Amino acid sequence: MPTPTEYLKHTSVIIITGGSSGIGCSIIKAIKNLAPTATVCNLSRSKPGDFFDQHGIHIATDLSDPTAVAAAAEQLNIIIAEAEPGEVLLINNSGFGDYGRQQDLDRGKQLQMIDLNVRAIVDLTSRLLPQMLKRGGCVVNVASTAGFQPTAYLATYGATKAFVLNWTLALGEDLRGTKVRTLAVCPGPTRSNFFKSAGFETPPMQEGTSLTPDMTSEEVADLTLQALAEGKSLLVTGWKNKLIALFGSKFPIIVVTRIGAAILRKMRLEAHKGDSK
Ligand SMILES: NC(=O)c1ccc[n+]([C@@H]2O[C@H](COP(=O)([O-])OP(=O)(O)OC[C@H]3O[C@@H](n4cnc5c(N)ncnc54)[C@H](OP(=O)(O)O)[C@@H]3O)[C@@H](O)[C@H]2O)c1
Repeated sequence: MPTPTEYLKHTSVIIITGGSSGIGCSIIKAIKNLAPTATVCNLSRSKPGDFFDQHGIHIATDLSDPTAVAAAAEQLNIIIAEAEPGEVLLINNSGFGDYGRQQDLDRGKQLQMIDLNVRAIVDLTSRLLPQMLKRGGCVVNVASTAGFQPTAYLATYGATKAFVLNWTLALGEDLRGTKVRTLAVCPGPTRSNFFKSAGFETPPMQEGTSLTPDMTSEEVADLTLQALAEGKSLLVTGWKNKLIALFGSKFPIIVVTRIGAAILRKMRLEAHKGDSK
């Protein structure tokens, strides 16, 4: 079984989205640690920190804008064409959530989320696949344990992640027999900017509950690179999250939806403690 360092030796171009913070930033740092001279291309609106300047190419991109995705893919295809022989690693990680009852949420933000969490992944991957098929490589898509069951109060977010999970696994089968494979990564609650940008106050959940974010983005990054090196097609991070995924598959979907809603509703009370409304 190759180690992440050995795996990265065969890779000449690494492309990641959302490397400016959280899980994406930790993945870049982990890669830089294991393969200091690897060229990493990052796509996000803001640049990762100063650490990224050496061997890092930042392509400022709002991935919720289809025109921007097309322009970035064009640049990336040139970078891949001019790169040394070797595989291409594409990590689609950018994403955000929006917490609340659907009827209370902003329609535009929900649609932007679908454009980023779903459309951009399909678009970017499809545009880079022809060269990836020639060189070989892996498409890593960051889904979520939210993708294993309907998620009231995060209805659109959970549905985008169910799409990412199912699409990635199916794509892996479509690509069987080629030089490209896929890995679906399903983190559970992880410490990052995610909760703040999704509209939670921090911390959104009571310490010690089953949904307390007990993983760091560094841990998720390390597990992702390990799963990549081991050739896995699905990674659910941590035993608690594996249990949640198992629960979602073993009980009737209506029951799972209701229980999930009860848990997520509690988070709403926590998030809005002190609201006068
Ligand atoms: N944290 C969790 O509990 C958790 C659990 C399961 C799955 N996930 C998934 O993990 C992934 C990374 O999230 P995170 O936890 O690391 O959250 P984060 O710290 O908020 O990072 C989100 C990343 O997405 C990028 N992004 C947001 N909007 C974008 C846009 N319009 N165009 C391009 N990039 C954009 C951000 O970059 P810019 O703002 O610079 O554009 C940032 O780098 C997401 O797909 C998320 O759904 C997170």
